[in-house]
Amino acid sequence: MSHQLDIDRIRHAVKGQHVGCRVEYLPEVASTNDEAWHLLASTTEPSTWGGAVILADHQTAGRGRLGRSWESPRGASLLCSIMIAEDEAQVRSGELMLMSAVAARDAVVRCTELNPQIKWPNDLVIGGRKLAGVLIESRRMAAGCGVSVCGVGINCLQHRGHFDPALAISATSLELESALPVDRTNLAIALLTEFDRRLLDMRQTGGEGLRRAWLSSSEPMGRPIRLRSAGKAYSGTTVDIDPTAALMVQLDSGVRRAFSAHDTTVLHADEPIA
Ligand code: BTN
Repeated sequence: MSHQLDIDRIRHAVKGQHVGCRVEYLPEVASTNDEAWHLLASTTEPSTWGGAVILADHQTAGRGRLGRSWESPRGASLLCSIMIAEDEAQVRSGELMLMSAVAARDAVVRCTELNPQIKWPNDLVIGGRKLAGVLIESRRMAAGCGVSVCGVGINCLQHRGHFDPALAISATSLELESALPVDRTNLAIALLTEFDRRLLDMRQTGGEGLRRAWLSSSEPMGRPIRLRSAGKAYSGTTVDIDPTAALMVQLDSGVRRAFSAHDTTVLHADEPIA
């Protein structure tokens, strides 16, 4: 089993792709997303960093969606941020959400015998346990161009005891799920390659293929769901997603409503509403 990230092998393997045109590695960062934003803020031409990637072995202040923290033991996860400039990609953050989840899932499928499902909006789960998460951040830079940073964290080498007790039953890793050796280098190559492929496809054919790929890999629609959005709780049945990655829900009240991934939390069955 290889525990080291082999950055030269990653750079060589993704040579010629847009995603991975630059691959920066740092052993330890606060957050790979922060590092991406520092790099983007320090240049007068942020759009030239489109396709660039930051990889790290450890984060001291990893972030998740909705202000949550994202923690992982040193060297245990694939921690990656991919920069996408708006003018090159012509994609919005909703589409990047779908794309990141689909690319992360396809990378896991390529490198293991596993078949994770996407849980709205962009978690990867196996048997209901979370394997990976995605955090998309979008900003308009001083130079005027819009940039998104797609942060992907995939649990690779964790054992049960590595997880915080509060997460021990709701989180998992490739090491816990797969009978095959886990190689983070191969996984990084697969992630960047799948992301590049999906980005190209999206530019050429628009978002519908992506939406279909997301739906075919996600937990099936028609499931009961409880949500919290803008301080209010809702319950209903999932119906569909739209191209902005919003979840369409048939509420128990009879109304059909779209929930944005930016301000909605999916509640566990036993989680209190408040
Ligand atoms: C979530 O599930 O809430 C999203 C988790 C995203 C974690 C990744 S790890 C790499 C990148 N850097 C961060 O600080 N967060 C993302």
